[in-house]
Amino acid sequence: MFRFALSKGRILKDTLPLLEKLGIQLEDDPEKTRKLIIPAHMPARPDLGIKATDFEMFVLRATDVPTFVQHGTADFGFVGKDVLLEHGADGIYELLDLHIAKCRLVVAEMEDALPRTPGQPLKVATKFVNIARQYYAQKGEQVQLIKLYGSMELAPLVQLADKIVDIVDTGKTLAANGLRATEHIADISTRLIANGATYRREHAQVMALMNSIRQQL
Ligand code: ATP
Ligand code: PRP
Repeated sequence: MFRFALSKGRILKDTLPLLEKLGIQLEDDPEKTRKLIIPAHMPARPDLGIKATDFEMFVLRATDVPTFVQHGTADFGFVGKDVLLEHGADGIYELLDLHIAKCRLVVAEMEDALPRTPGQPLKVATKFVNIARQYYAQKGEQVQLIKLYGSMELAPLVQLADKIVDIVDTGKTLAANGLRATEHIADISTRLIANGATYRREHAQVMALMNSIRQQL
């Protein structure tokens, strides 16, 4: 039996069809039920080297998925690379890029931002404080980080911050708020991750599952 941490929200919408293509049948619809553990079953796929496998699917906030996988409470997880970079990958194996929920992590500021007064520390609002800290440390730039949990684009509009570090996909949210991306930090997509101990202990089964997911992409 494997325990699998699913991210609620955008990623769930894209990963449920993938589970279906793999033949993994969930006993409840995670988008409807209030249950947080959903039993699931995958019939044997001798063609893919997979034995019949039972799963327990955990339905989690995206940001909590790496925590469950790192502690071994979940064997596998689907999670955005942004969340993984922010959390850190200690004890976690990144197995596969699923190429879904693609977006970019950028620095953005007001389109009409004035040049900054020298000597004043840059104020950066973000929910990705670890990524931002590391990014500006590499640039050798001193910044004051302001932690937010959403609607980051508001911060420069109301002078809470000079810049934001946030996700951009279509660019509509930036444009609608008079902002523009000025620096690219990373390309983001959903990843299949595994707990390090599970990866070593169940290596053959983990590889077979990873390869069968890869074939469905
Ligand atoms: P939480 O609820 O824990 O704060 P969240 O609100 O970021 O997480 P979602 O909005 O469902 O959760 O996003 C999940 C993942 O989807 C993100 O981690 C990122 O990898 C990706 N993502 C976020 N925003 C976009 C977007 N606009 N377009 C495409 N992918 C996105
Ligand atoms: C995400 C992200 C941006 C927006 C980017 O926000 O934080 O605000 O999507 O997408 P776009 O470039 O296609 O406009 P989300 O909808 O998750 O809301 P949030 O601000 O509450 O995180």
